[in-house]
Amino acid sequence: MTTEIKVCMGSACFAKGNQENLEYIKEFIEEKGLDAEVSIMGALCENKCEVGPRIIINEKEYTKINKEKLEEILQLV
Ligand code: FES
Repeated sequence: MTTEIKVCMGSACFAKGNQENLEYIKEFIEEKGLDAEVSIMGALCENKCEVGPRIIINEKEYTKINKEKLEEILQLV
């Protein structure tokens, strides 16, 4: 099963941490050799910037993502 990770690339989420989060996700996938199973894409701003940075994994939305939360979430991938 392919996991789809969408990272909000709107300016607010990007500035609040998704730039770093995206790098972290890419590294994680590379380290674990998951590139065949995981696809990363950008998402557009959905005017939920106040709960950003947002990341959506298989249509489930995660908000206020920081590195610690990301570490937890990526264990599910
Ligand atoms: S920038 Fe991500 S919801 Fe607006």
